Amino acid sequence: MEDNRAFLKSDWWTRFDEFRTDQQNRLPRPDVQKSTEPNAVRIDLIPPDQFTIGDVPLTTLVKNRRSQRHFADTPLSLEELSFLLWATQGITQVIGDAGINYYKRAVPSGGNRHPFETYLSIHTVTGLEIGLYRYLPLDHQLVVERLDPDLPAAISAGGLSQTSQVNGKSFPFIEKSAVTFVWTAIPYRTEWRYGPPAAKLIAVDAGHMCQNLYLACGAIGAGTVAVGAFDRIKTDAVLNVDGEEEFSIYMAPVGKLAAG
Ligand SMILES: Cc1cc2nc3c(=O)[nH]c(=O)nc-3n(C[C@H](O)[C@H](O)[C@H](O)COP(=O)(O)O)c2cc1C
Repeated sequence: MEDNRAFLKSDWWTRFDEFRTDQQNRLPRPDVQKSTEPNAVRIDLIPPDQFTIGDVPLTTLVKNRRSQRHFADTPLSLEELSFLLWATQGITQVIGDAGINYYKRAVPSGGNRHPFETYLSIHTVTGLEIGLYRYLPLDHQLVVERLDPDLPAAISAGGLSQTSQVNGKSFPFIEKSAVTFVWTAIPYRTEWRYGPPAAKLIAVDAGHMCQNLYLACGAIGAGTVAVGAFDRIKTDAVLNVDGEEEFSIYMAPVGKLAAG
């Protein structure tokens, strides 16, 4: 408990003379996006300037935001998925400076480090087969990690097989989602600049990202629920990440809401 509180209090900001960061030591800047296999299959998403959806007043979205744990069978369209990805991690501005591009995104991030990768367990999205995909924000594309009809059950097991009660029946809301977002952290992206204070920044960053998912879902008649209670080791195995340099930190199943 003490250690965890110390993490929350995170007083490292007054102790910068106790350590040197890798940025101060002039180590190379970490990549802003994880690489892909050279022959990986990529899928173009709908670019933000072509969105025909999402134009809902912010007051309406904020007022109606609720965690949703029951989804309709209706698939998400590729445009809807593109919109959700753009709203959570999309690039909104490229700033070139001294030969380096800096990317601003739809969400803030401590030091603009953006330490997350977005994995998608896709279940019912029009035109996409069931499987594990990853968002490539710099390209606004998906990369296919693997097609896998068993993924909805596996990712649900990673999410502790959470269920809600709907009309007296238990509803496995991760397995039954149209898509479940699973965010991993690559802590070094933030550690490179900040050293020990990075951990708390990363945890705070995750909240901003998921909040945008809530609001973006509200704008397309969909819903989500933040899932913090999950089996990280099991989930990392499903994602095929190493659990050290990259590990899962947050989940969010998404689906269309039943009318009415
Ligand atoms: C960090 C975090 C973790 C959460 N983890 C879970 C979870 O594992 N399972 C779940 O059903 N809801 C989870 N929730 C949703 C909360 O239960 C929900 O936000 C809260 O009950 C308030 O309801 P509202 O979001 O509808 O306002 C989580 C929310 C947050 C912010």
